[in-house]
Amino acid sequence: MKLNIAVLPGDGIGPEISVQGVEVMSAVCEKFGHEVHYEYALCGADAIDKVGDPFPEETYRICKDADAVLFSAVGDPKFDNDPTAKVRPEQGLLAMRKKLGLFANIRPVQTFKCLLHKSPLRAELVDGADFLCIRELTGGMYFGEKYQDNDKAYDTNMYTRPEIERILKVGFEYAMKRNKHLTVVDKANVLASSRLWRQIAQEMAPSYPEVTTDYMYVDNAAMRMIQEPKFFDVMVTENTFGDILTDEGSCISGSMGLLPSASTGESTPVFEPIHGSWPQAKGLNIANPLAQILSVAMLFEYFDCKEEGALIREAVNASLDANVRTPEIQVEGGAKYGTKEVGSWIVNYIKEK
Ligand code: IPM
Ligand code: MN
Repeated sequence: MKLNIAVLPGDGIGPEISVQGVEVMSAVCEKFGHEVHYEYALCGADAIDKVGDPFPEETYRICKDADAVLFSAVGDPKFDNDPTAKVRPEQGLLAMRKKLGLFANIRPVQTFKCLLHKSPLRAELVDGADFLCIRELTGGMYFGEKYQDNDKAYDTNMYTRPEIERILKVGFEYAMKRNKHLTVVDKANVLASSRLWRQIAQEMAPSYPEVTTDYMYVDNAAMRMIQEPKFFDVMVTENTFGDILTDEGSCISGSMGLLPSASTGESTPVFEPIHGSWPQAKGLNIANPLAQILSVAMLFEYFDCKEEGALIREAVNASLDANVRTPEIQVEGGAKYGTKEVGSWIVNYIKEK
């Protein structure tokens, strides 16, 4: 296979973890005889500083022409506490999602046996938890009509039938491939937009008779996720609820630095860690590269390269078992490996396999 990859390192720890993702990608391509070509592009605060736009036209073109985007992180504290800033790094990410039509964000919540003690939840609750959150990514409050003056502000949570149908379809199809249990998360007791979601889900459910479909209010789902994470198989929800629930989901596994994601839709798919740019750690070689590396596994799996994906997952598990870990997940008294060292260990594992 020939792969043309757009690499968007972004801000904070983004560039450091990006390097590790690219090296793993190259090692796998060499092993399996794939030809890979990388195009680097600017985004986020880095792009604002250099060209005044968090998602420049040039970056859009590079992404559009690529087979996949390997994205790292955007965000910089100099914009966070300035509500008057005209452009923000996050707008780059939102522009990318909208322009590439990335309406389906797939966020797996998985646990690693050897890290159960790192979870804020009791091990017996977490052990074996494994579910997918499918987050709608190009609609709802993030993109609805907005208004702000000194005395009043609003965001509009609008969804149309086609937007709801296409994301629910993704949810039902993933449920069919997994344990055939879909939970539609909404706030239908209060929000009109949620009532339409629920109505459409009820219309679609009979077409998937093998899937057990249940409906849960988002406040209840937030509670259930920590009370009984093993309840879930596939959940599907709107943009804002999915944003909040996936941060909650990510900490179940013990570290935010472990979870990858895939965003797919109408154009080039994007693979990225779910964590942010962690600006305080920039340049310190302490960021966990595993979420980025596992994003590369999701990239291969998207192209149906199952063995490639499996080898990356095996290498990641082997690194954890060998205690080759970044500080936030290292066992007590264990040596602290840096971002680069964890990445190189995984690359060597792949090469020697
Ligand atoms: C995420 C992030 C983004 C979001 C931010 C950075 C705009 O939190 O991908 O979950 O809110 O979608
Ligand atoms: Mn988020």
